[in-house]
Amino acid sequence: MVTFEMISPADFFYRNRDIAGFTNPARAIFSSVRELVENSLDASDQSRVPSEIYIRLSNDGEESSEEADVYKLRVEDNGSGIPPRHIPSAFGQVLFGSKYKLKQARGTFGLGGTMAILYGQITTHKPVDVASSTGTTRIHRYKLMIDIQKNRPVILDSKIQVNKNRWRGTMVEFCLEGDYPRAMAKIVEYLKQTAVVTPYANITFVDPKGRLYKFNRVTSKMPRPPKETLPHPHGVDVETVRRLIQITKCRNMIDFMKTHFHRIGEKISHNFLKFAGIDEKKDPRKLEPDEIVKLVRMMKKFEGFRSPDASCLSPLGEDLLKAGILKELEPEFIAVCQRRPSTYSGHPFILETAIAYGGNVPRKDDIVLYRFANRIPLLYDEASGVSWRIIKSINWRKYKVKPDMPVAIMVHLCSTKVPYKTVGKEFIADRPEVKAEILNGIREVARQLQRFLSKREYREKERRRLAAFSKYLPKIAKFSTELSGKEKEPDIRKLLWSVRKFEEETE
Ligand SMILES: Nc1ncnc2c1ncn2[C@@H]1O[C@H](COP(=O)(O)OP(=O)(O)O)[C@@H](O)[C@H]1O
Ligand SMILES: [Mg+2]
Repeated sequence: MVTFEMISPADFFYRNRDIAGFTNPARAIFSSVRELVENSLDASDQSRVPSEIYIRLSNDGEESSEEADVYKLRVEDNGSGIPPRHIPSAFGQVLFGSKYKLKQARGTFGLGGTMAILYGQITTHKPVDVASSTGTTRIHRYKLMIDIQKNRPVILDSKIQVNKNRWRGTMVEFCLEGDYPRAMAKIVEYLKQTAVVTPYANITFVDPKGRLYKFNRVTSKMPRPPKETLPHPHGVDVETVRRLIQITKCRNMIDFMKTHFHRIGEKISHNFLKFAGIDEKKDPRKLEPDEIVKLVRMMKKFEGFRSPDASCLSPLGEDLLKAGILKELEPEFIAVCQRRPSTYSGHPFILETAIAYGGNVPRKDDIVLYRFANRIPLLYDEASGVSWRIIKSINWRKYKVKPDMPVAIMVHLCSTKVPYKTVGKEFIADRPEVKAEILNGIREVARQLQRFLSKREYREKERRRLAAFSKYLPKIAKFSTELSGKEKEPDIRKLLWSVRKFEEETE
């Protein structure tokens, strides 16, 4: 007999942990650090206080299987804190989160941090410790496990402590199986790149060998926070409209369009309904299923909507991007560019690019690419991402860039909906609009690098010419004096002096 059963979301991710980036012990430990750090960064963005993040990874003493050890991971932040009634679900329930709103955030699914804890539980069978305060007189501590089959938190212990110093923030600690030696380089690289896009963060990492990595802030300025927004009619589907109809208080279509969608006023609402052939006075709650489908189809076709505004986005900005790169790479030359807001399928996005030359930019046989989305570094599957393919398609000789030069390019995409190809948030799918912006952004900074390199090439050439000149000039003066049978050599001091002056000026 066939039996049917339903699995919970926690069970689903337990069985399919690969898709969330927990493929093997090395990857799992990397993903765990990353997810907790991203939650901490989101939380400090929310409280508008420059981030203070402490990460400690230690050996738990226990030997486990051959290729993996048991580690204890602790991440502490000074972010918003979590309201006590939400703490158990935030960490003990997959797909429970506060970031389902339409605005830019690092996390999206209520999956990342919880998935790390779930992974810890299935590999070590130990609970997670959480302490958090929103800055009140109390700190709430929980010891939790996840009931995977029910997708529910199980509270093993809870405590309330007096918050003498009015600490605000969150501390999460749990054990997991991992392979730190193999993950080390990636984790450190991840933190370094995080420091580039988060120049207002102090990040401290203590690794299992007791090594200390510190990334210090160079500014306390934070990017403008994103505002929550309404869906743009070009980006909605039938299900979204169906849900809106269920909750709407509007009693006619004109108001319905104005109230629930992005940047629609009386006139546009009127024009659109006329275009769609839908009665303005119709009660939205009375729309039949086929009318909803038609409404959505017409929304996609109508060209009279205003394009989405970008206040729901929070790009880094040229100054902060520059500060981050200068601090971590100390390049000889840098150019940054923030493109104007653009959209793909109704989702607004902003692209930021930068190019850095020399200094501590790694010298490889190729351009070094740093990819970021919503201010998180993307470290895996570089070759599958759209940016890499764009860089490969550019004729770099035109920009005077040679393969052995130390050149790094950053591409940062901000959007309410980053077109990731996987839930593991690793690489970005090709969208023609996004692709065009990436290409233009890279070209813009590449042109500035070209000017810098050309100028330098010219100076180099001049310097070499003048060096030869000043070497031979005294000899020429001497010989020509002898040849012409004169006694007194011409005064060449003035000429030599102007050569030296040129050299000094171009130092
Ligand atoms: N350090 C933290 N500070 C404040 N809130 C947090 C923190 N970590 C997690 N949370 C809360 O827990 C929720 C679940 O986190 P997570 O599973 O990583 O999903 P996501 O980040 O995608 O929402 C978040 O939406 C947030 O509300
Ligand atoms: Mg998260």
